Amino acid sequence: MTQRVALVTGGTGGIGTEICKALADQGHKVVASWLAGIDDGEGWVAKMKAEGYEFEIAEGNVSNFDSATAMVKEAESKAGPIDILINCAGITRDSTLRKMKHEQWDAVMRSNLDSVFNVTKQVIGGMVDRKFGRVINISSVNGQKGQFGQANYSASKAGMHGFTMSLAQEVARKGVTVNTISPGYIATQMMNTLKEEVLNGIIAQIPMGRLGKPDEIAWVVNFLADERSSFITGANIAINGGLHMG
Ligand code: CAA
Repeated sequence: MTQRVALVTGGTGGIGTEICKALADQGHKVVASWLAGIDDGEGWVAKMKAEGYEFEIAEGNVSNFDSATAMVKEAESKAGPIDILINCAGITRDSTLRKMKHEQWDAVMRSNLDSVFNVTKQVIGGMVDRKFGRVINISSVNGQKGQFGQANYSASKAGMHGFTMSLAQEVARKGVTVNTISPGYIATQMMNTLKEEVLNGIIAQIPMGRLGKPDEIAWVVNFLADERSSFITGANIAINGGLHMG
C-alpha cells in the first residue's frame, strides 16, 4: 500500500479523531486541522502520542478562505502535498426558521459548506497533476432527509453532496475520486447540544436503536481512500443505522 498524505479538517473532533487514527493505521501520514480558541491542538497531539499516534496539526479557520489557504500551506510544509482530503469540520446552530438569526444561518453555511470550497480549492490542482486524489466530504443524514430545527445545517449538508457530484465529474479522468459520507446520529460531543428528550426521541426512530460510533464512520473513510476504491466517485454513502434509507 502506498503511503499517502491525508488532511482531515476538524481532525481533532469526535469523528475527525477516529478518521485520523484509521488513516494512520493504514500507514498514511496524517495532518489534522484545528481552530485556535475552539480546539486544543497541542493537547490533542500529546493525547494522541500517548495512544501511540504521531500526527501533524495545522491551524486555521476553514470557514475563511485566507485562513484555510494558510492552514493548507502549513499542512503541506509539514507533511507534503495532500493526496487525501477529508472535509470533516462542521457545526450546528439549531433553531426553527422562525427563530433563526442570520448569524446562525451564516455561521453554519460558512463552516460546513464554504469550508469545502475553501480547502478543496487548495489541493485539487495538485491531485489532478499527480493523477491521484481522494476527496471525502462528511455530510449528514439530515442533508438527505431534513430535520426539524436544522434548515441551516440540512441545507449546508445537502450542498456538500451537490459539490461532490459536480467535482467528481470534473476530475473523474484524472485519478481523483470525490465522494460523500452521510453519517446519522453518532455518539460525539455534538449530541450534547440536544435536549435529552429530543435525543431519546431520535434514538427511538433509529431501527438499530442506538447511536453510531465514530469508528463506524472512519472505517468507510478508509475504504473510500483506498486505491482499490478507484471506480467509486460521486457516491453518497449513508451510515445511519437505518434512520433513512434510499
Ligand atoms: N417535529 C414536529 N414538531 C416539533 C418537533 C419535531 N421534531 N420538535 C418540536 N416540535 C414542535 C413543538 O412541539 C412545539 O409545538 P407547539 O408550538 O405547537 O407547542 C414547537 O415545535 C416548538 O417550536 P420552537 O421553535 O419553539 O422549537 P424549540 O425551540 O422548542 O426547539 C430545536 C427547536 C431546539 C431546534 C429542537 O427542535 C431540536 O432540538 N431539534 C432537533 C435538532 C437536531 O436533530 N439536531 C441534530 C444535532 S446533531 C447533528 O446535526 C449531527 C448530524 O449530522 C445528525
